[in-house]
Formats: sequence, C-alpha cells, structure tokens
Amino acid sequence: MKILLVGASGIIGKAVADRLSVIHEVISVGYRGGDFQVNLGSKPSIEELFKAVGTLDAVVCTAGAADFAPFSDLDDAAYDLALSNKLMGQINLVRVGQNYVSDGGSFTLTAGILSREPMAGSVVISMANGALESFARAASLELERGLRVNTVSPIFVKETMKMMGMDPTLGLSAADTARAYQAAVEGDFNGDTLDTPDFARAS
Ligand SMILES: NC(=O)c1ccc[n+]([C@@H]2O[C@H](COP(=O)([O-])OP(=O)(O)OC[C@H]3O[C@@H](n4cnc5c(N)ncnc54)[C@H](OP(=O)(O)O)[C@@H]3O)[C@@H](O)[C@H]2O)c1
Repeated sequence: MKILLVGASGIIGKAVADRLSVIHEVISVGYRGGDFQVNLGSKPSIEELFKAVGTLDAVVCTAGAADFAPFSDLDDAAYDLALSNKLMGQINLVRVGQNYVSDGGSFTLTAGILSREPMAGSVVISMANGALESFARAASLELERGLRVNTVSPIFVKETMKMMGMDPTLGLSAADTARAYQAAVEGDFNGDTLDTPDFARAS
C-alpha cells in the first residue's frame, strides 16, 4: 500500500513509520521535516499536500496540537488551536483526502485516552479527542467507495513520559502503540476507536 503518514517524525509517528514501512510504501509528512510538509491548521495547506502527492491507499495522522493547561488558564487561542489543528486538521485530512484515496482505502486519525479518562489540565485535548472519535464513527457511515475511517486512542507513551520526567511504568512503548495503527490500516475496522493497549504485545 502507498500510505501518507502525517506526523512521521514524532514519537508515535516514527514508530508507526518503522512498522508500516516493512511491507508498505510510506510517504512521510511533517510540519518542518519529511518528504512533504503540511500545516494541519490550514485547509489550503492540506489541499496543496494532496495535490502534490496524488493517489494513495491510506492516510495515517499521528500529528495534532492542543495545549495541556488548567481550565482557568485556557484562553480563546488554546481552544482555537485544539479545534483548528488537532480536530479540524485531522477531519480536513479526511474531507480533502477522500478524493485522493483509492477504493477500499482508509484514514486513521489520532485521538487519545483523555477523551474517556480526563485529568486536570486535559480539557481542550479531551474535547478534541472525543469529537474525533464521534466524527469517525459518524463519517464511517457515509464515506463512499468502501473507504474506512478510524481513530487510534493512545494511552501515555513511555518515551513521552520519560521526556516529561514521569515514571513510564504505566505507559506503552511507541513501538507497541504503533501496532494499533497497523491494525487500523490493514484490518477491516470502520468507525472504530482502537485502544492501543488492546494491540500491544502480550508481556
Ligand atoms: N505521546 C503520547 O504520550 C500521546 C498520548 C496520547 C495521544 N497522543 C497524541 O498523538 C499525537 C502525536 O503525539 P506525539 O507525542 O508523537 O507528537 P510529537 O512527538 O510532538 O510529534 C508531532 C508531529 O507532528 C508534526 N506537526 C507538528 N505541528 C504540525 C502541524 N501544524 N501540521 C502538521 N504536522 C505537525 C511534527 O512534524 P515536524 O517534526 O516536522 O515539526 C511531528 O512529526 C498527538 O495528537 C498527541 O495528542 C500522544
């Protein structure tokens, strides 16, 4: 399969690229790096990306920005970022990309466990994650030509926790997290939210 991976240089994205590129052609997309660049927060930028890349079999997004901050500190800009980047950026990959993905192809978006297990500081992230899951569930009913759309819902990634100075014991490695993305691309899930622990190697 020819797979467009947006966020390929990130902690999760790199592991997804490693896993998918074993048997697929992965086209890496970043904000600064990658084979192609895009700004998820800009629909014209997404349109330019698909025009430049052409026909694909799958689109995977492991990007999407939103702030982790106390509710009382969230200003309009924090809501705008979560809505325009993490939420609409990924939704626009589907809206624009449906014209470029071949019959039976798929979209895999990144939500996160904070939609269902929020914590102090997660308001805008939880908001975007929940909306992404609902978007995929509803859009899957109407996408044409056998196109599928799913979200992957990662728990905290061990490498991210280490970077943040947290104890990584309860996290999942990026390599294990990537398994859910592979299942979303290669399986027949549609409208589903794939929880990353369900796809991790049994330890
Ligand atoms: N890591 C975790 O523990 C965790 C847990 C749950 C959910 N998630 C979600 O998983 C996703 C990826 O997380 P991560 O930790 O792997 O992120 P990360 O390491 O910070 O990587 C972010 C990626 O997104 C790209 N990017 C940044 N701004 C962009 C923009 N405006 N347009 C397009 N691409 C942009 C970056 O590209 P460049 O390098 O080229 O700038 C990079 O490839 C996020 O949506 C996050 O909320 C992560």
